[in-house]
Amino acid sequence: MEASELKTFIQGIPKAELHLHIEGSFEPELMFQIANRNQIAMDYDSVEALKKAYNFNNLQEFLDIYYTGAQVLIHERDFYDLTWAYLTKVHDQNVVHVEVFFDPQTHTERGIGFDVVIKGIYSALERAKKELNISYKLIMSFLRHLSEEEAFKTLESSLPFKHWIDGVGLDSSEVGNPPSKFVNVFKAAAGHGYKLVAHAGEEGPADYIWEALDLLNVVRIDHGNRCLDDDNLVKRLLDKNIPLTLCPLSNLELKVIQRMEDHPVSKMLEKGLLATIHSDDPAYFGGYMNENYYATAKGLDLSKDQLMQLAINAFEASWLDPETKALRISEVKNYFNP
Ligand code: ADE
Ligand code: ZN
Repeated sequence: MEASELKTFIQGIPKAELHLHIEGSFEPELMFQIANRNQIAMDYDSVEALKKAYNFNNLQEFLDIYYTGAQVLIHERDFYDLTWAYLTKVHDQNVVHVEVFFDPQTHTERGIGFDVVIKGIYSALERAKKELNISYKLIMSFLRHLSEEEAFKTLESSLPFKHWIDGVGLDSSEVGNPPSKFVNVFKAAAGHGYKLVAHAGEEGPADYIWEALDLLNVVRIDHGNRCLDDDNLVKRLLDKNIPLTLCPLSNLELKVIQRMEDHPVSKMLEKGLLATIHSDDPAYFGGYMNENYYATAKGLDLSKDQLMQLAINAFEASWLDPETKALRISEVKNYFNP
């Protein structure tokens, strides 16, 4: 298929996004706008100068810039505008279901109230449900470079808003901060009815994926690239049908892979793993859902069947109720085989 034809085709696929950090959807233009109205000085003179800094050799270099960018978010309206901008963007890309991460500690550490953060995000998600017909789930992530005690405080702060939150996740600097560090807080989160996911095997080893499964009891692995290093782990992921939420452009930008041709997702599909594709931090990595699908399809020369499998897998791996899941999957099948 020609490039433009493939792009048009991808645009039309009904899509689900399951791995998206709302703070990672903060486009430089909106960042400057919010910084101005909050009278916060930016470290960069212009949008162009800021974009030039988006050149990362690893996860930590990215995280340093990502946490700095988030510092201009102060008021409920800021979190609302950030979330609404993301939702209108992906609505234009025919994304019909989102499961969004937010990092409360990135904000509460700066003295912003948990309530301010979640109210802004929640209002935008509710508006999108009504006006854009986008269904959603919300996932609160613990920052793994902080202590388990800090995560416990965050869990406590979340309880008044428990009815708005579907799950907890684990993100930030992976190497040196294994899932085992958060066993107790994940257990407590499960006790409050939260579903559990964790980033594992992005830069960290396959062992961290084992830990996320065996010690944290997660139902989904975010990234999980490194699982192919371990045949027994692949078997375990297959046996339990554990989804892997992959982020190809993120992997390329953070040098988890050197070329898109090396991305593990086609090998994962060959093995029958429940692999899915998402954008992670689209404002920083050069693309939202369509761009991730396109770069992956092109880099790995994916067939239409593989593209269909990826789109189906995302709904399969979602936390939608069984009826809606089946409906969305049938819409994907109809799109591919009208
Ligand atoms: N926070 C935002 N994006 C992340 C990623 N790709 N890995 C870990 N933590 C993150
Ligand atoms: Zn992520």
